[in-house]
Amino acid sequence: MRRRVLGSSGMLVTEFTLGAMTFGAETPEDDTHAILDAFVAGGGDTIDCADVYAEGRSEEYVGRWMASRGNRDDVVLMTKGRFPVGADAGPNGFGLSRRHLTRALDASLRRLGTDHIDLYQVHAWDPLTPPEQWLQTLDAFVRSGKVREIGVSNLNGWQLQRAIMLARQEGLAPIVSLQPQYNLLAREVEWELVDLCELEGLGLLPWSPLGGGWLTGKYRREVVAASGSDVPTGATRLGEDPGRGVESWYKRNDDRVHAIVDEVVAIADARGNTPSQVALAWVNHRRTVASTILGVRTVAQLEDNLGAVGLELSAEETARLDAVSAPELPDYPYGFLSRASERRREALGDPAGSDG
Ligand SMILES: NC(=O)c1ccc[n+]([C@@H]2O[C@H](COP(=O)([O-])OP(=O)(O)OC[C@H]3O[C@@H](n4cnc5c(N)ncnc54)[C@H](OP(=O)(O)O)[C@@H]3O)[C@@H](O)[C@H]2O)c1
Repeated sequence: MRRRVLGSSGMLVTEFTLGAMTFGAETPEDDTHAILDAFVAGGGDTIDCADVYAEGRSEEYVGRWMASRGNRDDVVLMTKGRFPVGADAGPNGFGLSRRHLTRALDASLRRLGTDHIDLYQVHAWDPLTPPEQWLQTLDAFVRSGKVREIGVSNLNGWQLQRAIMLARQEGLAPIVSLQPQYNLLAREVEWELVDLCELEGLGLLPWSPLGGGWLTGKYRREVVAASGSDVPTGATRLGEDPGRGVESWYKRNDDRVHAIVDEVVAIADARGNTPSQVALAWVNHRRTVASTILGVRTVAQLEDNLGAVGLELSAEETARLDAVSAPELPDYPYGFLSRASERRREALGDPAGSDG
């Protein structure tokens, strides 16, 4: 598996990262260890955890796996803090305050059985903690040696730009990565954040690259109808976990989504790949993507998805997927700016470009 540099860090990540969100939730510990072994056998070394996944069990499983294999130094270990872990977290048990983040990092280190995290990410913005404050907290983590690099997840354009500039202005450890939702069904990250990451040299780490399973093709109307049910059934995220899934089944079960999935399936069939592989290859070659975070429940799913390693779609296939999945741009300011930029570029005889 090829490696890419993660933003300005100089640290190499494998082109696919293994996400640990299913560990301790849908997937029991023995199976998670088998999945981690299969990922390493497939050439991967980068693992994405979060303290909140399965109330800490996910990090514990990864920690015990690293201890039993003796491979901590071979792994690029990422985790996140911000959300409450467990129902009794209390009012100060979440957010980006120094109080909470310091406890959260120490708890993650304990669960993972390590003395340092390679990439520590704030899981989302906190309206109650100024970015200056959490950037200083993260900088202190780096100086203490408990964290190597700093990343963020789920920020919008102004929040990310503000945090980048504040870190630079205050001489604090720089933000090297953004982890957003990004897949053929969710391309809103392209409205501002992709350009920002490119301009500022951040690596993008897409989450939910298969849209929670939609882009595998297993929720096509004819597949669901053939099961004799109106909604997905069986051991799938949308079938057996109403908290995470049925809501998004109803949210996504529309003509636009089915048209995108049908195009993915058509391209996959024509080239002899699976739909998952095609959808993963599409996102993994978007601008600024450093590593795409795989989510799997079983070893078989991982083996399917690893078929996307080294897979590059043709320009024609990419153009078809771009066209069918193009998100409708909110008219203001995005549509307005797009039209204004287009007119300006036409004056140069160059209608293409990336700034909207
Ligand atoms: N920063 C954040 O806020 C955030 C949020 C979400 C995720 N993440 C990260 O991103 C990672 C991936 O997210 P995700 O799990 O939502 O990714 P995803 O790839 O969109 O969905 C993964 C799910 O799709 C199904 N699936 C995957 N491969 C399949 C295959 N080959 N055939 C059939 N079904 C398949 C499985 O669910 P079923 O078998 O149950 O259907 C699997 O759990 C997470 O582990 C986590 O590290 C981060």
